[in-house]
Amino acid sequence: MKLFVDTANLADIKRLASYGILDGVTTNPTLIAKEGVSLETRIKEICEVVSGPVSSEVVTLDPKEMIAQGKIYAGWAPNVYVKLPMTPAGLIALQELNKEGIKTNVTLVFTANQALLAAKAGATLMSPFIGRLDDRGQEGMALIEEIVDIYDNYDYETQVLVASIRSPRHVVNAALLGADIATIPADIFDKMFEHPLTTSGQEQFLADWEKVKNKQ
Ligand code: G3P
Repeated sequence: MKLFVDTANLADIKRLASYGILDGVTTNPTLIAKEGVSLETRIKEICEVVSGPVSSEVVTLDPKEMIAQGKIYAGWAPNVYVKLPMTPAGLIALQELNKEGIKTNVTLVFTANQALLAAKAGATLMSPFIGRLDDRGQEGMALIEEIVDIYDNYDYETQVLVASIRSPRHVVNAALLGADIATIPADIFDKMFEHPLTTSGQEQFLADWEKVKNKQ
């Protein structure tokens, strides 16, 4: 399973990349706004750190403008993936970007039908937002199960990128279901490292080593 980080924070991206666990990065306009930086500058900075897919989202409702923005984004670095909304306009833009060989990530997916349409349209990646469904009292992971089954039934090449992850358990469940990718907020990545027995075990090993380290 590929692990992406869902952030535009460069320090977090560099830190996670240094652990050798980072396959890619997803951003969205909210995450860029949180950093208070220029989209172009930050996407270029991220692409210098990460060689895998880096998603940059279009910011318009008009398909022609989506195509124009997508082409500009794709010129920033070879690993930029253009994030398009799961709407008719987004799929029109996707057709044109596909012709140019530009990779895409269809975002804001909340139903299996939307995932089916994104795959048929030829999306490279497709992002169901499970946490936002959980927030509404729905079972986000049930959507992933349906999508993985549908994509397997028809051998769609579109990769399932589980997004809007809220807990380490979400990552485990996505992996158990065979999702291709999880995009994970940095604080959830940090929690994936944690177990009290790892901490106490390391403390015990170091304390015991202190007792014998000077013995000849
Ligand atoms: O980047 C898309 C998605 O992961 C957003 O997550 O936490 O805003 O629902 P969230």
